[in-house]
Amino acid sequence: MTEAILLVGGRGTRLRPLTVHTPKPMVPAAGVPFLTHQLARARAAGVEHIVLATSYLAEVFEPYFGDGSSLGLHIEYVTEEEPLGTGGAIRNVASRLHSGADDPVLIFNGDILTGLDIRALVATHETTGADVSLHLTRVEDPRAFGLVPTDATGRVTAFLEKPQTPEEIVTDQINAGAYVFRRAVIDTIPEGRPVSVERETFPDLLATGAHLQGMVDSTYWLDLGTPQAFVRGSADLVLGRVPSPAVPGRCGDRLILPTATVAPDAKLTGGTVVGEGAFVGEGARISGSTILKGAVVEPGAVVTDSLVGARARIGERSILTGAVIGDGATIGPDNELRAGVRVWCDARIPGGAIRFSSDQ
Ligand code: GTP
Repeated sequence: MTEAILLVGGRGTRLRPLTVHTPKPMVPAAGVPFLTHQLARARAAGVEHIVLATSYLAEVFEPYFGDGSSLGLHIEYVTEEEPLGTGGAIRNVASRLHSGADDPVLIFNGDILTGLDIRALVATHETTGADVSLHLTRVEDPRAFGLVPTDATGRVTAFLEKPQTPEEIVTDQINAGAYVFRRAVIDTIPEGRPVSVERETFPDLLATGAHLQGMVDSTYWLDLGTPQAFVRGSADLVLGRVPSPAVPGRCGDRLILPTATVAPDAKLTGGTVVGEGAFVGEGARISGSTILKGAVVEPGAVVTDSLVGARARIGERSILTGAVIGDGATIGPDNELRAGVRVWCDARIPGGAIRFSSDQ
């Protein structure tokens, strides 16, 4: 039975203010901490033992997931005193693995939403006899990612981190954040210091002649590192565009958690989630958005592609498009907040304070 390591220790700076009080993998997507979807998908692929490599806000994981038995898993937690980076984190949990030297070990970044066929990745690894196998996906603009060109047999030929010039963009295949390592390869990562698996381990392995195999799987794939991507991913889970056994309800246009209150004439569409104890007033229209627990959307507000943090309040008739409102923030009535705005936790914006559109 294949074991897995989940990397969940990053600071999630791009996702602030959502990650001020909550580590990225614990921010709710489709009504449950995002990590739940990954754990459930790994379980569905036959994984039983998972080691969580934690660092930033490490203390919140175990109280929520415990020993993992409610998900049919055995979960262990290993916390880095100082963040060790992706490679250092993998090395740091090696002693918890039960696998033999040649057995495959799955490794997942904790912020990727994907329909990847996990069993197919392990099968590719075994049939090719690779040292490390990587899930690759194709993207239109690869500049923010690590490029992974391969030869005709799928064998990796180079690692190019965050290419900028047209000459550097030699492929549209990127590192999709899921790997299979031959167990013994993990033991070659240096111990006790920060190591980046993308920038150091993979290029070093390649330079020493190791066999790194790429598997392109063009199924649903989204890096939830930014607020806009996170909101999109949550909506896609609710809409059923990416399968997860952990969505707490039927997939469809909206997911309203049982303790939420929604006015009968409020309109919720596009994969909107209304979290526990949240309130949506009369005539409010919410599309493609996540309303976290205890938040209040007052009557007549219009919320599109936005995330409203826990206990935050959106005033009457306010309009939010592509906005992120931190936990406990208050947006007074008649505000207009648009693309990319991030309101910090507990901030207060008075009524009628911010507008974008013309008043004519
Ligand atoms: P940003 O700060 O917004 O770039 O996010 P991040 O800190 O999560 O970094 P990144 O998205 O590059 O991390 C990829 C994955 O590795 C995520 O699942 C992180 O949780 C995880 N990760 C990154 N650095 C560390 C680390 O030092 N230790 C551990 N255990 N995990 C890490």
